[in-house]
Amino acid sequence: MEINKNNGDFNKIIKKYQSNPFMYVEYPHKRFWNKKFENLDDTKEYFKESIIKNKDKKFLFYVHIPHCHTQCLYCTCHVEITKDYSRVKRFLDYLYKELDMLNSIFDEIKFKPNFTDFHLGGGSPTYPKIEDFDILIDKLSKFADLRSLNEFSIEIDPRRVKEDKIEYYHSKGINRISLGVQEFDPEVQKMINRVQPDKLIERILTPKIRKLFKHGINFDIICGLPGQNLKNFEQTVKKIIDFHPDRICLNYMHLSTKFHPHQLKMPKDKIPDENLRKELFSLASNLLENNHYARAGYDHFVSKDDKLYDELKDNKLKWNRLGIVTGNYENIIGAGVSSVGKIEGDFYYQNTFENDEYEKLLSQNKLPISNYHVMSNEDKIREEIIQSLRTYFYLDIKLIEKKFNLNFHDHFKNEVEKIKIYEKEKMLVISSDEIEIINNGAQFANLIASEFDTYISGS
Ligand SMILES: C[S@@+](CC[C@H](N)C(=O)[O-])C[C@H]1O[C@@H](n2cnc3c(N)ncnc32)[C@H](O)[C@@H]1O
Ligand code: SF4
Repeated sequence: MEINKNNGDFNKIIKKYQSNPFMYVEYPHKRFWNKKFENLDDTKEYFKESIIKNKDKKFLFYVHIPHCHTQCLYCTCHVEITKDYSRVKRFLDYLYKELDMLNSIFDEIKFKPNFTDFHLGGGSPTYPKIEDFDILIDKLSKFADLRSLNEFSIEIDPRRVKEDKIEYYHSKGINRISLGVQEFDPEVQKMINRVQPDKLIERILTPKIRKLFKHGINFDIICGLPGQNLKNFEQTVKKIIDFHPDRICLNYMHLSTKFHPHQLKMPKDKIPDENLRKELFSLASNLLENNHYARAGYDHFVSKDDKLYDELKDNKLKWNRLGIVTGNYENIIGAGVSSVGKIEGDFYYQNTFENDEYEKLLSQNKLPISNYHVMSNEDKIREEIIQSLRTYFYLDIKLIEKKFNLNFHDHFKNEVEKIKIYEKEKMLVISSDEIEIINNGAQFANLIASEFDTYISGS
């Protein structure tokens, strides 16, 4: 795959890519959401109204547990690093309050959303001890029958669990485990403060666990970590293929030292530049695609035995904060510090990041929401375009015109003009009926999609 080009337009694109911070887990990016939490009664009303409007839709329940034992230096997730278990206990007590409050809101509106999927993320949702996890499961089971969910997944830090704990999770209804593998090279692991020999993964993925989680194993890996090069990353990806997980999330390392200053502790001169990152990504992508995986969306790969592969072929995939997911649900309700909820095409919200604020609001019997966005019609159109380009590398213009009753080439005259730079580079093809991202354009799908973002261009 051709990546390094020496012409002016391609260099402009790379430069723009480097300064483009958006990964589009939702549109608009939360930096541009339009409401703060001054009036919490209004927030609660929007929340209720939105859920009522979505009575017939399916929902995912997301729970964020922020604690981790040590800080991985690349990490940009919302975490609280602590070895003091009383911090976890205290957080769980407030999380239970939030869950109880959600339950009483559903009582007030006289119905429970149809929760078909649950995801436990973090931080490290594996941190709570079994006796505390039992209580969490008991609280969550008030929302749905946890043993008959479509997907009930948990993020696993392989350094902190053994086979028996994973078996325990399975006994509680969890049917999908997502392992933070990141990188196998020992030198890279040292540089990111995450020493995790491959033996750990072997120890976890025993025949018994593979049988319990048949078609239920995800790996997270990252390209762009310090010390990665084409040689060691090839070894890592080959090892990953040998483990044959069902789904792989191939993250580009996101650098945001302003908000995550611990990233400065990684050796700067060892961090791959933008061109090398793209080459690493292409290398991994080619290896995976030649070994029974299909690319599903910008940064996900699915085994051809996985149900996501069927959904990919049927154009049913969805993309959200959890990555590429089955098209089973549209909406998300999030609980725990920093978690995000999404009532599609209508209302987005995020809980506060601050523990003190989280505790204070819950003690006052208020939803701990700090920031939210009520979608305009224009937001809905652009969200759909960005979703489609990023997930399918394709836009059916006729479908957008029909759904939103507009003339695409008139409405998006400026945007179409802007994306011609990518057309010149043979990264996409524009016609009256469709936009198709081709060749190495897929590597820049986020950037191409961002040309339809009115918030960034106005920022
Ligand atoms: C909440 S974390 C994973 C859960 C678990 N704590 C672990 O580390 O195994 C979710 C995933 O986000 C990804 N991630 C975290 N920070 C990242 C960054 N700066 N750039 C790209 N991916 C990142 C990692 O691949 C990680 O596995
Ligand atoms: S990658 Fe996982 S374990 Fe490491 S700091 Fe982030 S959330 Fe915690």
